[in-house]
Amino acid sequence: MASHEPIPQFESRKRDHIELSLSAANQAEGQSGLNRVELIHEALPELDFDQVQITSHALKVKTKTPFLISSMTAGHGESGTLNSLLAKAAEAQGWRMGVGSQRRELSDRKAAQEWKQIRKAAPQVVLLGNLGLAQLIRTKIEDVERLVDSLEASAMIIHLNALQECMQPEGTPNFKGGAKALEALAKKLSVPVVVKETGCGISKGTLKRLRGMGLGAVDVSGLGGTHWGRIEGGRSRPGDLRKSASRTFADWGIATVDSVAAACEMNRDFEVWASGGVRTGLDAAKLLAMGAKTVGFAQPILQAALKGEEALQQCMALIEYELKTAMFCTGVESLKRLQQKKVWQWRKI
Ligand SMILES: Cc1cc2nc3c(=O)[nH]c(=O)nc-3n(C[C@H](O)[C@H](O)[C@H](O)COP(=O)(O)O)c2cc1C
Repeated sequence: MASHEPIPQFESRKRDHIELSLSAANQAEGQSGLNRVELIHEALPELDFDQVQITSHALKVKTKTPFLISSMTAGHGESGTLNSLLAKAAEAQGWRMGVGSQRRELSDRKAAQEWKQIRKAAPQVVLLGNLGLAQLIRTKIEDVERLVDSLEASAMIIHLNALQECMQPEGTPNFKGGAKALEALAKKLSVPVVVKETGCGISKGTLKRLRGMGLGAVDVSGLGGTHWGRIEGGRSRPGDLRKSASRTFADWGIATVDSVAAACEMNRDFEVWASGGVRTGLDAAKLLAMGAKTVGFAQPILQAALKGEEALQQCMALIEYELKTAMFCTGVESLKRLQQKKVWQWRKI
């Protein structure tokens, strides 16, 4: 059963999200833990820069880079144009792209048009669908399959956003039955299922519970970047207790680095993906060295895309160059070697 939220309310929330995510006050800057990790400089790399390859394999799909444009807003007036711009850039650069929540399409079939437009703009791009856990619990698997079809998605992301649902004026903090719904989806859906947080990270205990479900990947999306407690607090009206509560929870979450370290250390049957406060190709190199297969960027890509096609292309090219530089300066020529050769350590304080 799909939710039937009024469309004007839905569209205005999505616009608020874009605007508020751009504000520095809604970024948990400095909390990703990435400054606690360092890569070890190799003064004598036995290779030429041109040999450095960042080709990646995740969920059995090959892409030119290990990067992902993390799921972002869809389903309002201007988002079609923005998403087409992102999809074209992702296709050109060889990044994957996660679309924003497809929730609206569950109750408004016309919303599928937005996806058709994206596919037309970028027929080859590797796209990932998206739906929140609160919606998944109330949705039939065949309806999720329909979301996959409309996008020709190669995987389906289910996002976990407990804090956001608590702070959102029109939130649905109803996750009972979530684990069962995830497992059922992973067993039946025609494409791999990726479970993803949205900026609060995933603990070791939860990661253990996600084992054995048949998931393709888990994107920890930890604390350190866009913070949905802060954003939703900013949207609530003065006097709404959620406004005060969101200040109390302004730093809630598990640092991206801690979630990635926990996930990579344990025996697991899913790939580890990393996002949340990743701002440079060097940040990404650290997470890849720790064991992540794919690294996602949301807010920095949105910021660049809003400036236009050229700024977006430059932002993506810079991230790639920074990753290659980190690889050259640690003496590794491939992402496989970056993970095999122990090139990272915890920074000594
Ligand atoms: C404007 C905006 C909209 C977002 N919408 C979604 C969404 O619909 N589904 C989702 O899984 N994550 C969504 N996210 C969360 C991101 O995918 C990501 O997990 C989070 O922003 C942390 O990454 P960042 O620090 O690079 O922004 C959104 C992020 C932004 C900035």
